[in-house]
Parts: sequence; structure tokens; C-alpha cells
Amino acid sequence: MTEPSSAVREVLIQVAYLASSVLFILGLRGLSDPAKARNGMRQAMVAMLLAVIGTLLHHEIVRFDFLLVGLTIGSIVGVVIGLPLGIDVPMTAMPQFVAISHMFGAVAATLVGIDEYRALGNAPAAPIMAALGFEVILGALTVTGSFMAFAKLQELIRGKPITFPGQNYANVGLFLLSIGLLIYQIIVPGQPMLFYGMVGVATLIGVLMVLPIGGADMPVVVSLLNAYAGLAASAMGFALNNNLLIVVGALDGASGFLLSVLMCKAMNRSFGNVLFGAFGATTTSVKTAEGLSVREVSAEDAAVRLAYAQNVIVIPGYGLAVARAQHLIREMADLIEKKGGQVKYAIHPVAGRMPGHMNVLLAEAEVPYDRMFDMDEINSEFDRADVALVIGANDVVNPAARSDPSSPIYGMPILNADHAKSIIVMKRGMGTGFAGIENELFYNPKTSMLFGDAKASLAKLVAELKTL
Ligand code: TAP
Repeated sequence: MTEPSSAVREVLIQVAYLASSVLFILGLRGLSDPAKARNGMRQAMVAMLLAVIGTLLHHEIVRFDFLLVGLTIGSIVGVVIGLPLGIDVPMTAMPQFVAISHMFGAVAATLVGIDEYRALGNAPAAPIMAALGFEVILGALTVTGSFMAFAKLQELIRGKPITFPGQNYANVGLFLLSIGLLIYQIIVPGQPMLFYGMVGVATLIGVLMVLPIGGADMPVVVSLLNAYAGLAASAMGFALNNNLLIVVGALDGASGFLLSVLMCKAMNRSFGNVLFGAFGATTTSVKTAEGLSVREVSAEDAAVRLAYAQNVIVIPGYGLAVARAQHLIREMADLIEKKGGQVKYAIHPVAGRMPGHMNVLLAEAEVPYDRMFDMDEINSEFDRADVALVIGANDVVNPAARSDPSSPIYGMPILNADHAKSIIVMKRGMGTGFAGIENELFYNPKTSMLFGDAKASLAKLVAELKTL
């Protein structure tokens, strides 16, 4: 077969890139709806394939032997590391898994930036230097920031915020220093020491930026770092004159940023409060439950109540993920429906520890998508619900968010579980949730507590429902 002419080759590359960009956008759109998410992932996979094919057609690739060796070694290492990780990672460990994956992406962006700088004789023209500078600054801070996020979530280092006086000033100062170094190199090219110094400063920023953020706020940070990695890739696109990288990096950057903003909104926290607020470092004065008592219920009695309920709304939370009890929920719901009741699932946007956590768990158990409802869709239905069944959720049903201005979660929109005719809460004990505060819902006269690990309690409920 003859080599395609360079004009034909260029057209083929741009067509592959265009198709890839469109498919990436459609893929992202698909991910916004659980029913279309699987298809969205497939579209994104085809987009990635087209991106690789388009890149391999590039005229700058003159030898395929090294590439083949690299691809083979990379694939083997990728499969050896990635496959067991992908199969074994529990849903509760997904945030740190995502963080470490971002780190590898950012390592790649930073190394490509450094290599391009060297390939241009350590003195790129001003616009290229600007793009390369942003690429390596954002890339390097994402590498260490993501690693820190991973280490906090994996509890390799203390998850609590680590603060010191003047921390925010130090971070802002270092960031300005890195930008200053970049501007100087744009004006005065050929300063490799400054270039590597700039990379070093960015690396330090990543560490310092994540230190004051508590482990539980990490999902917001991970999503923000994802945005930085996307912007680094976009800057790389400008430096390498690669349209696909520009588009895809911008998509990644924008979606990561929007996701962080949406998470903050759903927690009623400002972006600044998450990034600089050291949430969880100190104990806020909150109402305690002294003098109040809870009512316990046995699995037998809870099963009877569920068997005779017409409308049941299940509220899953982080404890469901910890207990890995999702499959039993489905079994329980089927039994309730067999007895004539209707079961719906209320999903709070920040239930669990990462966006879409509950949707993924329930989808794993093959809960039909048309039974899962976002908070805004279902909140008005609690008034008509016979039973609100809270499984391993806490903060997302805490009425203090509405009524107690001193509460750290005051203002956070919550699921109206307390509006239901009766409430059953399944959890191990009286442990607090992520926000570390008492929940007055547990002391509500309409509430019955079914204590125990969610999986064990659900198994008992299922067994009881089968006998009724
Ligand atoms: P949480 O408020 O964290 O409460 C989870 C509850 O599950 C705990 O009170 C715990 O009580 C119970 N639990 C733990 N293991 C259990 C098990 N094996 N069986 C039964 N129960 C168990 O959860 P939530 O209501 O889902 O709220 C999520 C919180 O995380 C919110 O405050 C949110 O702002 C925050 N957050 C979310 C995200 C995202 S994106 N989802 C990101 C950052 C922060 P016991 O110990 O008594 O069992």
C-alpha cells in the first residue's frame, strides 16, 4: 500500500479528530443520565480509539518500532496494574482510585511538556512558552495534589486538615511566584534553570494546596484537580498544535470544574470554604441529643410495617456503600412490591462520598432507573410516603440543615424523610456522618431505629418479608 499524501493524511487526521471530539461530547452527555451512561462510555471509548488512530497518522511519527515497544510495555504494565485495580476496588475506595488515576494523567502531561521544552532547545517562542508553562505548572501541581488526595483518602497520611499560620498566604505567594517565573521566561527565553524551578514550585503548591483540606472534602478536590489536568492537556494542545487535545482538555477542565461547583452547591458550601476552610479541623458547637431517647425496632416489626406499606421511599447513603448491601435492597423492594406496595429511591446529590455514588450502587443491583429520583423530583412525595426507609444515610436527612443556623450543614438541601408518615433508620449505632453532628431525625417520635450493619439488617428484613 502506498503512503497517503501529506494533504490526504492531514484530512484523515482532522476527520478522525473531529469525529473523536463529537463522540467525546456525546459521551459526556450520555453520562448525565444513568440510563444512557453505559452508551456514553461506549461513545467515549470509540472517541479514544479514533484519537489514537488520528495521532498515529501524524507525519511527525516517522518510526513505529519504538512506539510499538512502548505500547506493548505500556499495555502490559497497564493491564497488570489496572485490571486488578479496576476489578477489586470497592465503591467506597473509588475517590482515591480516581485521584491516583488523575495523577498518572498529570505525570504524562508534565513529562510531555518538559520533553517539548527540551525539543525546542530550552527556548520556545513566546506563545509556545506560555502554553508549555501552563501545561507544566498545572500538570505538576496536579501530580502532587492528586497524590496527596490519594494519600489522605487511603489514610496513608492524616485525613484531618493540616494547617499552619499564614498557610493561605504561602500558597497564593507560591502560585504568584510560579506565574512570575513563567512571565519572565516568556520575555527572556532560554532559562532552563528557571523552567525546572517553576516545575518544582508547582509541585510544592500541589502538596500545600491539599494539606489544609479534610479527607472527606477530597472528592471536591479530586474533581478540581481533574479540571486542572484537563486544562494542562488543553495547554499541551496549544503547544503541540493539536486541536483534539485543546477540545478534549477544555471539556475535561470544564466538566471537572462544574462538578466541583455542583458538589459544593449540594453541600451548601462555598468553593473557598472547601479549599481554604479546613472543614473538620475544629469542632463546631452543635446541638447534642442529651435527654432525648430513640425508639428501636426489630427486623420482624420493620418487615411487617414494610409489607403493609403502600408507598415506601428508600434513602440510601454512605453506609450502604460501606456495607455493600445494594443487592439486598433490590430483593427487599421486589418482596414489598409483590405485596402491593410501591418502592421509590430518593437520591441526594452528595449522598455517599462521590458524585453519582448511590446511582452506581443501585444500578449495580439493577434497580430500574425509573425508580430512582433526584432530590428535587421526590421531595414533595415524602408527605404521602407510608415509610421512609433510611439505609446508611445520615447528613442528607438531617433536619438541622433546615432549622439550626449553628449547624455546619445549615442551608444544605436535604431529603424530607421527616415528612413521611413513619421513618425507619438502618445504621450500626448512633455514629455521626461525614459532618460529625447529631441528627434529630433519629429522635423524632415517628422514627424507629433498626440497628446493625446494613447488609445484615437487610438480610433479616428480606427473610422476614418472605415469611409474611
Ligand atoms: P453520612 O452522613 O456520611 O452517614 C453515613 C452513616 O452510615 C453513618 O452515620 C454511619 O452510622 C452509617 N454506616 C456506616 N457504615 C454502615 C454500615 N456498615 N451499615 C449501616 N450503616 C452504616 O452519609 P450520607 O447521608 O450519605 O451523607 C454524605 C455526606 O458526605 C454529606 O455530609 C456530604 O456533604 C458528604 N460528602 C459527599 C460527597 C459526595 S460528592 N457524595 C463529597 C464530599 C462529602 P453508624 O456508624 O452509626 O453505622
